[in-house]
Amino acid sequence: MTGLRITGWGSALPDNIVTNADLASRIDTSDDWITERTGIKERRIGGTTAEHAINAGRAALDKAGVTPDQIDLIILATTTPDRQVPATASTVQQGLGLSCGAFDLNAACSGFVYGLVGALGFLKSGLDRVLVVGSETLSTIVDWEDRNTCILFADGAGAAVVERTEDDGDLLGFSMSSDGNLEYALFAERGGTLEMDGRAVFKNAVLVMEKAAHEAMEMAGVTPDDIDHVIPHQANIRIIEASCKRLGIPSDKAITVLDYTGNTSSASVPLAMVDALEAGRIHKDEMVLMVGFGAGMTSAATVLRWSADT
Ligand code: ACO
Repeated sequence: MTGLRITGWGSALPDNIVTNADLASRIDTSDDWITERTGIKERRIGGTTAEHAINAGRAALDKAGVTPDQIDLIILATTTPDRQVPATASTVQQGLGLSCGAFDLNAACSGFVYGLVGALGFLKSGLDRVLVVGSETLSTIVDWEDRNTCILFADGAGAAVVERTEDDGDLLGFSMSSDGNLEYALFAERGGTLEMDGRAVFKNAVLVMEKAAHEAMEMAGVTPDDIDHVIPHQANIRIIEASCKRLGIPSDKAITVLDYTGNTSSASVPLAMVDALEAGRIHKDEMVLMVGFGAGMTSAATVLRWSADT
């Protein structure tokens, strides 16, 4: 068997903090409303998608103890590339001094999890090491006058170095899906801003997260009782709690960072992963369920048995 091992990780957030009170001073909303409906207290805004990806990627390379020439491919999950052409992955490649393949992946908030599954395929095809990054500057596609959306979205990045291993590796099961019938629920036209049917997203998110998680657990041969940590997409605390409840996993096993990051789409799962690792919350041999959902509507889940020393 050829498998995937996560050997390095890193994250990056802009310095500029925008609190709920800051938003309430400009639009008709309040800290209480945002906190109660979403769990978000503040978010980080600024920079470029490439800058955040480079900072997170560099930290991941350092943690893995690998040099740029040892990376065979960079997969950059993003919905907010800095330019139409070329792929922002190429800018990141140049910034990190890598000489390897590079491409962008857009699966919205499921992007990092799609990227991990894609990396496994490339490792099985013979590559040794892949850098998987989720990076976003959603602030650039938000209408800052629209209280339905601007309270949610933000900027940042998270990254992981994954390496080939000649055993089962960390990634034991996965699921990926998309339902284009629901693309109306969240979209931005080219050059436009995000438009969202919040209730449709909410309702479907809970359903697709449950389905994706069950499929990944079935492939891995584990049950909800075996899961030590859930790393969910950081959209809304109520979606996370409802999904955990439906899965029969105590919600205190869910890792959340959305209170200080907001919703950073493809960056949200790796940002939560890195936060938990740096807090010493995830330990070797523990079972980690990652589950994302997003515009598309896409969803994706992975079950990982964590093998790195933390
Ligand atoms: N502040 C104050 N009031 C507001 C705000 C705001 N920021 N936004 C909306 N309201 C008002 C509405 O206008 C509405 O008023 P009305 O009753 O007079 O019409 C009232 O609050 C209730 O609005 P709802 O939309 O019913 O509020 P809901 O409880 O559904 O919460 C929310 C809205 C937070 C957007 C919720 O639907 C949600 O979280 N949905 C999922 C969104 C999401 O996760 N999107 C991204 C996922 S995919 C990705 O990450 C790319």
